[in-house]
Amino acid sequence: MKIAIASDHGGVTIREEIKSLLEEIGLEFEDFGCECGSSVDYPDYAVPVAEKVASGEFDRGILICGTGIGMSISANKVKGIRCALVHDVFSAKATRQHNDSNILAMGERVIGPGLAREIAKTWLETEFEGGRHANRIGKIAAYEDKH
Ligand code: RB5
Repeated sequence: MKIAIASDHGGVTIREEIKSLLEEIGLEFEDFGCECGSSVDYPDYAVPVAEKVASGEFDRGILICGTGIGMSISANKVKGIRCALVHDVFSAKATRQHNDSNILAMGERVIGPGLAREIAKTWLETEFEGGRHANRIGKIAAYEDKH
């Protein structure tokens, strides 16, 4: 599994924590910034990562900003992206099992790096359950195809 990761200036600490997790569990990843000493705009990082996941160049993405909200709103504009904003381990597991989320968003002003690491680990290790959930995701894809 190949992971694309990025943050804005509000998510640098958690981004570094998740990179160390990815190294530890041996997953290939690429860091798409930011190189931010100053304030940057989250869509400039969310959209490129989302496009790389939607195109299949990367299997999954992880995006961090202050709240995770700007990153998740931006990523979900890209066709084929199911970005889940998650701040607890239960939802990390559920969104993989039920939504087959392909991008995880988190907010560094909401949770600390320790919890973010547990959330990301759970999200990376949990499989999609398929079945009735695949039917529901199919309805989202059908809507995207019509618009
Ligand atoms: C940046 O100040 C902040 O707005 C951003 O990191 C994020 O929280 C937006 O949703």
